[in-house]
Amino acid sequence: MSIRENYDLTGKVAIVTGAGDGIGRASALKLAEAGASVVCGDLNEEKALETVKQIEALGKRGLAVKCNVTVEQDLVNLVDSAVKTFGKVNILVNNAGGGGAGKENILNLSLEYITKTFTLNLFSMIILIKLCAPHMKADKYGSVINISSMASNMVSHDMIIYGSSKAGVNQMTKYAAYDLGPEIRVNAIGPGAIKTHALGTVLTPEIEKKMLAKTPLGRLGDVDDIANGVLYFASPASAWTSGQILFINGGGTQELD
Ligand SMILES: NC(=O)c1ccc[n+]([C@@H]2O[C@H](COP(=O)([O-])OP(=O)(O)OC[C@H]3O[C@@H](n4cnc5c(N)ncnc54)[C@H](O)[C@@H]3O)[C@@H](O)[C@H]2O)c1
Repeated sequence: MSIRENYDLTGKVAIVTGAGDGIGRASALKLAEAGASVVCGDLNEEKALETVKQIEALGKRGLAVKCNVTVEQDLVNLVDSAVKTFGKVNILVNNAGGGGAGKENILNLSLEYITKTFTLNLFSMIILIKLCAPHMKADKYGSVINISSMASNMVSHDMIIYGSSKAGVNQMTKYAAYDLGPEIRVNAIGPGAIKTHALGTVLTPEIEKKMLAKTPLGRLGDVDDIANGVLYFASPASAWTSGQILFINGGGTQELD
């Protein structure tokens, strides 16, 4: 297979959650550039529409769907919209997620917060995989990419629920890969600190300096660094890769504390 064919997603249909900003938007644009039609689900419909505008500017097809991934009916509607508009689903980027940011003091946690965060970061991903899998199997091409975090694999103060839910994403990825082959591959990406709005809310010059001291590649990540990993897992280039967690982190660790 030529390099071009290895990364060609012409005729494929992708769903990206949280596609209105950050890693989700960069991933949606990257998949579209490779030829996929992309369904952009986001809590914020305007931001999803803006991503679709950028996809259309590339001469590709996109669809914005207002979707809160913590609401099961929204997930059903997201997949139904993809199938109704583009006829199938081949690629799922489970990207929407959040929490942590050094605010999860173990002595102050409520069951409500824990449940909400696990629903956002882990449970919603499982439901979306369940909903997409029959369509992927029917088309004999499926790739799921779950966005995890370096927090899944290390410890840092006051991130216990975010880190635990992302660790769950890693193990869930391996189980889903085991259950869903051979038609469907399931992999995860664990980003280090990536310059997005989410990171911007907690990053100070002092924290950045400390992060860079432990980052051999000498800079924080860009959304494109992650989108390139998403493209690899989505495309035939990774045809014999499943159940893997790829940490894209500048070769080091970036801690908030
Ligand atoms: N930025 C980082 O440094 C970093 C590091 C590790 C992991 N991650 C993970 O990457 C993913 C994306 O993070 P980001 O930094 O790009 O975020 P971001 O804040 O830049 O963008 C998140 C997008 O998701 C949407 N969103 C939020 N809640 C949603 C919900 N319930 N349903 C649907 N859409 C929702 C927002 O409207 C926004 O458009 C998350 O899973 C996050 O945990 C990010």
